[in-house]
Formats: sequence, C-alpha cells, structure tokens
Amino acid sequence: MAGLIPQDFIDDLIARADIVEVVGRRVQLKKAGREFKACCPFHDEKSPSFTVSPGKGFYHCFGCGAHGTAIGFLMEFDHLSFVDAIESLASSMGVEVPRSESDQPARRYDEFFSLMDTVSRHWQDCLKASPEAIDYLQKRGIDGATARRFGIGYSPDGWSNILDKFGQSDEAAERLLATGLIIRKDNGKHYDRFRDRLMFPIRDPRGRTIGFGGRTMGDGEPKYLNSPETVLFHKGRELYGLYEARQALRQIDRLVVVEGYMDAVALARNGIDFVVATLGTATTQEHLNRLFRLTDNVYFSFDGDRAGAKAAWRALENALPQIREGRQIRFVFLPEGEDPDSFVNENGADAFVKLLDCGIPLSEFLIKELSAQVDMDSIDGRARLAELARPLINKIPVGVYRELLIGSLAGAVGLTSAKLEKMLAAGNATTDRGRLSTHASAQKRRRPSSGSGPSVVRRAISLLLNHPEAALKLDVEKLAGVRRAGVDLLALLIETVQAEPTMTTAGLLERWRHDEKGRHLGKLAAANLPADDEFDPAAELKECLQQLAVAGRKERIEFLIEKQRVNGLSDDEKSELRQRY
Ligand code: UTP
Ligand code: MN
Repeated sequence: MAGLIPQDFIDDLIARADIVEVVGRRVQLKKAGREFKACCPFHDEKSPSFTVSPGKGFYHCFGCGAHGTAIGFLMEFDHLSFVDAIESLASSMGVEVPRSESDQPARRYDEFFSLMDTVSRHWQDCLKASPEAIDYLQKRGIDGATARRFGIGYSPDGWSNILDKFGQSDEAAERLLATGLIIRKDNGKHYDRFRDRLMFPIRDPRGRTIGFGGRTMGDGEPKYLNSPETVLFHKGRELYGLYEARQALRQIDRLVVVEGYMDAVALARNGIDFVVATLGTATTQEHLNRLFRLTDNVYFSFDGDRAGAKAAWRALENALPQIREGRQIRFVFLPEGEDPDSFVNENGADAFVKLLDCGIPLSEFLIKELSAQVDMDSIDGRARLAELARPLINKIPVGVYRELLIGSLAGAVGLTSAKLEKMLAAGNATTDRGRLSTHASAQKRRRPSSGSGPSVVRRAISLLLNHPEAALKLDVEKLAGVRRAGVDLLALLIETVQAEPTMTTAGLLERWRHDEKGRHLGKLAAANLPADDEFDPAAELKECLQQLAVAGRKERIEFLIEKQRVNGLSDDEKSELRQRY
C-alpha cells in the first residue's frame, strides 16, 4: 500500500511539515530555547522530558525513548497506519496525496515512456552518423548486431541537441526534465544532461526505456553518467540487460549478475546471454526478488578487486533472506584486475562458463570470509566467529539450508552443530557467556583501535542526521573497505543526502522507516550534540570519516600480519601488505 505513494512526495511532505504545529495541536508545548517541551504523551511523568525539535522535524522523549517524525507522531498518537498518517498530515497541510492508480499520472507515464523511446532511437541514429563512436565500440569488441540488440546509441556533443529537438514547448521541456534528459540551471534555463557519450538505454522488463547510462569515450569524468532517479527509473531496482536476456532465451536456467554495462554487453556479445548488471549499486533485496522470480540459479561475478569483493559481500548479506532449498547462489571470482568484460574478451566464452561452474557456493564464501577475520586456532577466535556469524545466520529462513550451513560452519571451527547452535542462539546461556567474555581481550589485541570504533560510526551517523547538509562534500569512497558495524548504513546515508541535498533529519528517518537498520536511527538523531558557535558539523563529520579510513587500513594491516604469522599469505595478500605497510 505504502508503495503507491511516491517517495519524493513523502520526502517533500515531511520536509515541509511543521512538527511543532502537528504535535502542538494535540499536546500542550512550551518553548525552551530552540526546542519545545511537554510532559510525554506516551508515558506517565511529572517533569517534561518530551522534546520537539522544529529544526530537525522530529520529537524525542528522554524518559521513555519514544521518538519519530510528524508522520510517526500521528501514527502513535492518533493510532493511524502509515498511509493514513500521511493522508492526515497532507490534508492538514492542504495538499492531496498523489496515487499512482489515478489515471492522470498513468497518462503522463505513457508520455514519458514514449519520449524515452523516441530519444533512444534518435541516439541510435546519431551513432550511425558518428565514425568515432562506431570506432570506439569496435575497439571494445562490440559488433553492430549486439549494439542494435542493446539499443546502444550516441549523444553528440553540444548543450542543447535534445532540448532543441524535443523540448520546444514548455510542456515538452517539463517532460525532458522529469525524465532526467535535461538539467535546469539556477536561472531557469535548461541544458542537455548527456553530451558526447555512448548511450546505453536501460529498459524495464517489458522493454520500455526508463533511463540511460552514458559512457565517455575519453577520460572525462564521470566515466558513466546515469539518469537521475525519476518516476520511471529507480537505480536500486533495475537490472540492466534483463529484458535483452529474456528476449534472447526461451528459458532462463541461470543468471549471472555483473556490475557494469560493458560487462553485460560483452558477455552477451560472446554468446552468454543469461546476464544482468546492477549498474554499480549494491545488489538490493529488490534485485534479488526479481532474480529469483526468474531462476533458481544465480551467479555473482564482480570485478577482481577490493571493490568487487566488497560488492560480493553486500550481495551475500542481501541474499541471505532469500535462501531456500533448491536455490543456488554462487560467487565467481575473477583474477585480480579483471572484470567480466576483459576476461571474456581475452579468454573466450568457454573459459568464462568454466569459471561459473567453479563458482563458490554462498555457504562456502560466507565461511571463508568469516574465518579470515578471526584466529581459527584459538577458542577466542571461534567464539568470535560464532558471534560474527550470528546476525548473518539469523537472516536465513529457518529450514534445511540453514541447518546445513550451521553444520558446515561447525565443521570449519571444529565444534559440533549442537554446540555451535547454542553459541549462535541470541542471549547466550550464562555458561557460554563466561567463555565468550574472554574474547574481549583477544579482540583488544586484534584491533587496538576498535575501542573508539563503533562509537565513531555512531557519532558520524548522529552528526549526519542532525546536520544532513554537512555530508554534501564528503568523499564516501573513504569508507570503501572499512569493515565495521554501521559503516554501510553511514555510506548509504551520505549517498542519499548527496543525491538529494534538501534532505532533512525527518526525511532521512522516514526513508529508513521500513528498513531494519532504521530502527536505531531515531535514537542517533536524538543524540545531544554541542550547539556552540565553534561547532562545525561538516568538519567533524569529515574527521570521523578520516578516522574510520585510518582505522580500517590499520585493521587490515594488523589482520594481514596476524594471518602471515598463523596461516601464511597468498601472493595477492603479500603484495597488498607491502603496499599498505
Ligand atoms: P566500472 O568502473 O567497473 O566500469 O563500473 P565498467 O563497467 O568496467 O566500464 P568500462 O569497462 O570501463 O567501460 C561498473 C559500473 O558502475 C557504474 C556503471 O553502471 C558501471 O557499468 N558506474 C561506474 C557509474 O555509474 N558511474 C561511474 O562513473 C562509474
Ligand atoms: Mn570494464
């Protein structure tokens, strides 16, 4: 039901809602500095610890911990469902909630789809007229038939090709803007988003073009420019190449998931049609839902580098809830420095298929990654392994597969399944606690910096939630490879704010309302931060990221040194250690 209300409407509503008015109409509020106070309506109290912060757009009770946005308040206080709370808030603000069922938006969608299609065909014509673009494709091993199959085109250089050709009336320009084909400047003038790029249309499962990815043919930045999020295009949901794969295959026995446009196209060119790409984003639950609706056999083949390994782990985490008997998930690791595109062009399709067949099953990948993080020779290490495995295993639906995985994990750590299961159970029995607590000292030895670790992440998230604008200039890449609870969430928050610079505290909380991780965000948003003039949230946040990057690097080095001592290192790890040390 909630999905019917567009996210950007909710963002906008929550950004404009006046929480003081919403709460104040139901609870007697008193001004206290920048905030408002009251006796908490959600628990019994004599002195007011219920605080409403108009700047952040949310409330928090220091007594009982209740907190939320204007929407959350209406849900709690008026006992409304999420959708009803939105309706109520919107009507109090005199706006109407748009629904995708009403036929007016549907008509607009048709116009958008047909515009995207027209532009896509236009760019394909431009490709035929550009010897440079054709030459580039040939150099990358893409033949005409494959280019046609994927609808690859070329957007010529210039600031207003699309605007002049397709945006003559105000309505037409609005459509170009809404579909992300042009960009509006501060002065209200427009210009083309895609200039001098090879264009990859991104199609929905029905073959309708919903977005584009444009690659520079030189060294320009960014390498790939994508359509922004629009009503048609949601990057975290789409699988590039899915339509083309379904067109090519009568039956889909398996699907390979790669990271890039060129990976998908190059594999298809080499006859491997069962391929889709996630377009550089993490593999989401929505991706996985889509994949498993089509096939039981999914292979992840990411780049042979650190980013690829990280992407594989994210995919694993998101795949856990989808594991069922009969489903197979494998991870295919390419040689260092290769991606599927380069690999298939150098070694051919048969070699790639062989790699697929040698892919590591999810269970093995999980065990391998976790064992690499602990000292498997010590009791402490095994206890730590159980601890690391617990949240992952808890994501797997109860059933045969989960039993089998626990069995393999137990085998790997040299415990019986029963014993491990006991260690995995949340809220361990006190007998186990005594044993587990000894691992604290081991952890201290392993990661001296981890004392300040989780709190840096928490602090960074608090800062960001309280001052979203402070995240605008951060370099999220600094967090790549930092393995610490909450870092993924922090990175996602930064990316969200950067994609949507007007995001407010309350807006962020609402975005994560339906997310398991979002449960803790409210508390972090309520953290008391200094409010003096010296306080510079952007600088503090930058400092947090710096600390995390340094700590991450240090942990990795320590881990490699320890591993060198205990198990020895692979060649890659040796050279990594040399580079880092
Ligand atoms: P890669 O950098 O691995 O690119 O990014 P690639 O697919 O190997 O591309 P080629 O071979 O250099 O042409 C993987 C994917 O990440 C997204 C794109 O979807 C890309 O295919 N990406 C990458 C972007 O969206 N923007 C970028 O600037 C870079
Ligand atoms: Mn590549």
